[in-house]
Amino acid sequence: MNRDDMRREDPSVPTESPELVALVCAAIDEAGGAISFADYMDLALFAPRLGYYSAGAGQFGSDGDFTTAPESSPLFAHCVAVQVEEVLAAIPDGDICELGAGSGALAADLLQRLAESDRLPRRYLVVERSAALRERQRAHLASRLPELACRIDWRDALPENFHGVVLANEVLDAIPAQRFVAHAGGIDECRVGWQKGRFVWIASDCSGSALGRQVEAICAALDHRLPDGYTSECAPARERFIADIAAHLTKGVVLLFDYGYGRDEYYHPQRANGTLRCFHRHKAHDDPLMLIGLQDISVHVDFTAIAEAAESAGLTVAGYTTQAEFLLATGLLEAVQGLDPGTRRHAELTAQIKRLTLPGQMGEAVKVLALVRDYDGSLAGFSARDLRNRL
Ligand SMILES: C[S@@+](CC[C@H](N)C(=O)[O-])C[C@H]1O[C@@H](n2cnc3c(N)ncnc32)[C@H](O)[C@@H]1O
Repeated sequence: MNRDDMRREDPSVPTESPELVALVCAAIDEAGGAISFADYMDLALFAPRLGYYSAGAGQFGSDGDFTTAPESSPLFAHCVAVQVEEVLAAIPDGDICELGAGSGALAADLLQRLAESDRLPRRYLVVERSAALRERQRAHLASRLPELACRIDWRDALPENFHGVVLANEVLDAIPAQRFVAHAGGIDECRVGWQKGRFVWIASDCSGSALGRQVEAICAALDHRLPDGYTSECAPARERFIADIAAHLTKGVVLLFDYGYGRDEYYHPQRANGTLRCFHRHKAHDDPLMLIGLQDISVHVDFTAIAEAAESAGLTVAGYTTQAEFLLATGLLEAVQGLDPGTRRHAELTAQIKRLTLPGQMGEAVKVLALVRDYDGSLAGFSARDLRNRL
């Protein structure tokens, strides 16, 4: 479905901001007719005031475009609290730093849970790229937890010499990726141009470039050959993001939750059109070139690339499992224990548990990766099923 079909079906679908379109067209002109998909995705999501996240529209939840786990249920935060408490018991001076906190839902539910168990960290720091979302998080946390305001602070980056827990839910998949097509004769980069009033894909031979070499390295590492015309993504910016976390973390645990797979599954021959997904009003599709600034654009995570980047930067991969296994191992089902199954509360919680754990929903598609430095304590969330052999 293209944007005109979408508007025919739903005339209230808004029109793209002419200012954002002009900004991206200027970048395309300046680059000689096409920009990388990563540059397009970066502007579409984060161009100041205009990008999808920077404009601060109501992206999250049932009234928005998509629902993340912390938006689906506070039970997600309650389970994360169990894992965080275990780590902070071993690092008593540890802080929490959440990267990309969205509406602030995870921060609020997690801090409330930690306050109830008297295990609050000294500081809860947030590193959020979107200025509009930073304001939304401030407002949400100020109204939910005014008494904890002195512990919560926003930073431009993870502080130097950080001790404690770093959390990121669905942040890696919002960090821009490159798109490519693998042919028998070489590799084309899928760049973005502007023709006849629309953004269009422009294929450009990238053999020998940094992207071409990265795709060749991916192909060489796979157990199988990619079919001719295979289209997919890779995201060197995410590897730099992980190296940056590693450079600031002196002691502690990084927990990354995201849609993704290990490399062999990510570049499975049947996934021949990649993992790009866009969301507009809870409709998912794979065309990032329409509705610029009005829809979310995400690309699944190659967790093998993330694990390799972490290990090159001196971190250790201490766990990799599915969201369902992580949440079940941190007490998800305790929420309904002792409740009368005939009650409305039981039905509500059961629906939330299903959404978080069922394989067809977030349970299997979302993975959790634990990266550690100078931490040899246990990690409850990874005790039930260890999938590190899939990385
Ligand atoms: C899909 S939303 C997820 C929000 C929230 N974590 C949740 O689960 O509801 C992605 C979030 O990551 C933020 N983000 C993306 N790239 C980032 C970066 N490099 N540094 C900090 N925040 C980033 C976005 O602005 C947004 O808040």
